[in-house]
Amino acid sequence: MLKVKFIPQNKLIEVESGTNLLKAADQAGLYVEGDCAGKGTCGKCRVKVIEGNRGDPTDAEKEQLSDSELKAGWVLACTRKVEQNCVVEVPLQRDAYTRKTTMPGGVENLEAEPFVEKIAVKLDLPALKDQVADLERLLIKLDRPNLTVNLRELAGLPALLRNNGFSVTVVISGSRLISIEPGDTTDQLYGIAFDIGTTTIVGSLLDLKTAAVLAVAAATNPQNIYGADVISRITHASQVKGGLKQLQDKVIGSANEIIRDLLRQTKIARDHVYEIVIVGNTTMSHFFMGVDPAYLAPAPFIPAYSRALDVEASELGLKINPAGRVVFLPNIAGYIGSDTVGVILATNMDRRRDICAAIDIGTNGELVLVANGKLTACSTAAGPAFEGAQIKQGMRAAAGAIEAVSYVNGDIELSIIGNTPACGICGSGLIDAAAALLDAGLIEPSGRFINPEENPDEVPACFKDRLRRGPGGFEFVLVPGAKSETGDDLVLTQGDLRELQLAKGAIYAGLMILLKEAGISENDLDQVLLAGAFGNYVRKESALTIGLLPQLPPEKIIAVGNAAGDGSKMALASKAVRARALTTPEKVEHLELSTRPDFQDIFVNALPFRNN
Ligand code: FES
Repeated sequence: MLKVKFIPQNKLIEVESGTNLLKAADQAGLYVEGDCAGKGTCGKCRVKVIEGNRGDPTDAEKEQLSDSELKAGWVLACTRKVEQNCVVEVPLQRDAYTRKTTMPGGVENLEAEPFVEKIAVKLDLPALKDQVADLERLLIKLDRPNLTVNLRELAGLPALLRNNGFSVTVVISGSRLISIEPGDTTDQLYGIAFDIGTTTIVGSLLDLKTAAVLAVAAATNPQNIYGADVISRITHASQVKGGLKQLQDKVIGSANEIIRDLLRQTKIARDHVYEIVIVGNTTMSHFFMGVDPAYLAPAPFIPAYSRALDVEASELGLKINPAGRVVFLPNIAGYIGSDTVGVILATNMDRRRDICAAIDIGTNGELVLVANGKLTACSTAAGPAFEGAQIKQGMRAAAGAIEAVSYVNGDIELSIIGNTPACGICGSGLIDAAAALLDAGLIEPSGRFINPEENPDEVPACFKDRLRRGPGGFEFVLVPGAKSETGDDLVLTQGDLRELQLAKGAIYAGLMILLKEAGISENDLDQVLLAGAFGNYVRKESALTIGLLPQLPPEKIIAVGNAAGDGSKMALASKAVRARALTTPEKVEHLELSTRPDFQDIFVNALPFRNN
């Protein structure tokens, strides 16, 4: 066995010779990005070897890292095998959640009407003339003779009643008695709403008596080590022995970390949390529940189930009241999950009578259109470009990410998250950068950088050194010498622009097909709602400039925050909304884009940038 010490986290582990550093970091409980699932193609898993285990760079490292990075000891964790004891530096994870936990929106005006109820009772004491059994005595008092009771509660009932003078509080969820507590605890009634994203998991703790959100916590979805996209993870689950369990353990573990954080923030006892309501895409639903998603990946994309699943918390190992219920809301189709149900609930799309589209851009893109009271939806393989994946120096919206770029007074201005030097570019920055460079005349509407060698006069003097030939074609230097250690520049490459075009083309084409199917055009849209953190922060003007959105007046484009997560909070806090959630899938017509003969043409037409 060989020793690997990770700094600055100061974790020491032992691994077998030949284990790669990505697996070793995972074994040490450390998070290293692994967008390409260890194929050596994304370049995101870079760590720095400080001592030992220095060897010749792998082919993937030569491809993904600059000479100065290689010289400084940077390696790709997924391709670098441990052959000696070593010390490895893992970059500290930057907080990429603030945008997801502080977005406006929510359930402020919702009337609390929780599914879980608490009733305090004082029972008559048994006597020789009143020999009714303890459980029946309780159920008669409640006037709920048909409640089901689990053995765990029944086992402790006689002592519980007698130790508390026959005064107890009963917790009921639907037809189940889930807990019996000493005394009157009716003021302690809590639940947690989760939004399980492919990239980020967000949990919100609610007081179910008032529907108030008491705390929010988030974490990176640790399944990321098996790939940034759902297909890589499905492949891992179906092809690696024990893979499905690994994926389930990762997401349940992360949910438990979030629960711990929420309880710590609010000082609420875990036993007083009685319900969890979750939204997520269909694949996340399968992983969370430990159900084989293998047939979701190939056509015809069949999930194992689409209905809502309702299980006991102890079955999944979730650290709330063990008898608490865990409800994963229903999915609409293989690639349109309960997160889209959440968007529909939070934006009232199931009740609107105007013409409105909602676009939820995350690691995938889901679109919903309501027209004449009819709901249609589709999903597009927008790819994770908007989350910074597949972008050479892309990153999520964390400290150091370029989040906004503008072309002002003949120069490019940048805005960076946090008080820190730029170290990458996130989705909103990427769209802004493309729009700004279009405005500056450095990108053609086709998406190509203008050729500074053939057309030197077209490049403004101030950009002459910044638009240059790079290893993969032309590239624009956003921040010269951004990487202080190596002096490397932070660049936007031609490949990045192509990724952006593919992603925005897929979203736009999906929307055009929904409109076409409804027999209307983009001019008929009364509103376009942008859901999700990305939708909240993207600048409408830039999204319009690059043709991500239809050419509507900006006031018709509205950011609605984390609508999927809001939908889950609403379904947790309100029985009426829960009932709507359960019937929403049957009201939505799903359009499968891959079977549409017109998709390819519409998609290809949607690829160019339009510079208005
Ligand atoms: S290059 Fe290592 S995970 Fe992608």
